[in-house]
Amino acid sequence: MTKSVLVLPGDGIGPEIVAEATRVLDAVNARFGLGIETREALVGGVAIDAEGSPLPDDTLAAARAADAILLGAVGGPQWDDLEMAQRPEKGLLGLRSNLNLFANLRPAILYPQLAGASTLKPEVVSGLDILIVRELTGGIYFGEPRGIRTRDDGVREGFNTYVYSEPEIERIARVAFDAAMKRNRRLCSVDKANVLEVTVLWREVVKRVARDYPEVELSHMYVDNAAMQLVRAPKQFDVLVTGNMFGDILSDCAAMLTGSIGMLPSASLNESGQGMYEPIHGSAPDIAGQGVANPLATIISVAMMLRYSLQAPAAADAIERAVADVLDQGLRTADIAGPDEQPVSTRAMGDAVLAALSRH
Ligand code: NAI
Ligand code: MG
Repeated sequence: MTKSVLVLPGDGIGPEIVAEATRVLDAVNARFGLGIETREALVGGVAIDAEGSPLPDDTLAAARAADAILLGAVGGPQWDDLEMAQRPEKGLLGLRSNLNLFANLRPAILYPQLAGASTLKPEVVSGLDILIVRELTGGIYFGEPRGIRTRDDGVREGFNTYVYSEPEIERIARVAFDAAMKRNRRLCSVDKANVLEVTVLWREVVKRVARDYPEVELSHMYVDNAAMQLVRAPKQFDVLVTGNMFGDILSDCAAMLTGSIGMLPSASLNESGQGMYEPIHGSAPDIAGQGVANPLATIISVAMMLRYSLQAPAAADAIERAVADVLDQGLRTADIAGPDEQPVSTRAMGDAVLAALSRH
C-alpha cells in the first residue's frame, strides 16, 4: 500500500534542511521498499508571498490527505510587521488545529558524541534520553472565555480559562502510555493537583488509564518540582506527560539540557496516527541561504515519522544509526562544532548520512 508524505519546506533554512531530509527519506524508501510518495507544498512566509495566505487551501487539503507531513520551519523578519492573523506562524497553528494534532512528542536526547554541548555537567546529562508528551490543542492556550476586560470598578483585568475534558486527558494519556511501552516503561504525569482542580481531574484520569498499562510504572509530580528535577537529575525520567502550557515550558527546558537546538526533532500526532514532523528550531534567518544549517534535527524527525506514522521501524532505526555514525566520524555543522573542529556544510552532512545509511 502506498503512503503519502507532504513536504512543507517553509522559510529561512527550512528548504535547505528539508532538502537533506527528503534525500534521506527517498533513500530509505527505495532501500526498504516502503512505497512512500512525496509531494511538496507552500506554507508560511513563502505561501504568503505566492498566494497571500500562510496556509493556502490547497496546502491544507494536501495535508489532510497525507499520512504524514514533514515541515522545515516558518517565519522571518520580512513578515514580522504583519498582523497576528496573517503571519507565517499562523500556517503552523492552522495545520495543528485543523488536523487536530493534539499529541506533541519531543524527545530530548544527548548524543554521547556531543556531551560537551550541554551547559550542564556531563555526569548530569550524559546518556540523557527522555521523551516529553505535551497536549497541544487544549488547556489554557485554547480555553474560553478569554480576553481583557474592564471591571465595574474601572480596573482592567486579563483572563484565560484552563479547561480539560476527560476525553482530552484520556487520549493524551494513552499516547504517553503507548510511548512508554515502546521505551523503558516509566511514565511521570506532571500536574499542579495541589492547586488546580483541572489537574485533579487530570491525575484521576491518568490513573484510570494506567489500569490498561499494568507494565508501565506511573508516577505523579507537581510542575514546579518537575522543572527543578529536570535540571537537577533529568535521567530519573523516561516519559513525561503534561498539559499544553506546562509542556511548552518543560519541553523547552528539557531540549536545552542537550545544548544543541540543531539536533532535536518533534512529532505532533492526531487520533488516527497522522502526524506532522519538524525540528524544534525555527527558520534561523541569521544563517539562511548560507548552506551551514544543521539538517540532523529534520533528518531525525524523518525517523520519528517512519516510526510513528508510517509503521517502518526498521527504516527509522537505520536513520538513527546513520546519524550516530556520522557523529562518531566527527562530522559537525557549525552549531555543534567545538572550537577546534572544522565545521561541514548542510549538504556535506546530508551526504555523510546517506553514505552511512548505505552501510547499515
Ligand atoms: P531559531 O530556532 O530560528 O534560531 C535560534 C538560533 O539557533 C539562531 O542563532 C539560529 O541560527 C540557530 N539555529 C536554529 N536552527 C539551527 C540549525 N538547524 N542549525 C544551526 N543553527 C540553528 O529561533 P528564532 O531566531 O527565535 O526565530 C527565527 C524565526 O523562526 C522567527 O520568525 C520565528 O518566529 C520562527 N520560528 C519558527 C518555528 C517553527 O517554524 N516551528 C519555531 C521557532 C521559531
Ligand atoms: Mg515554546
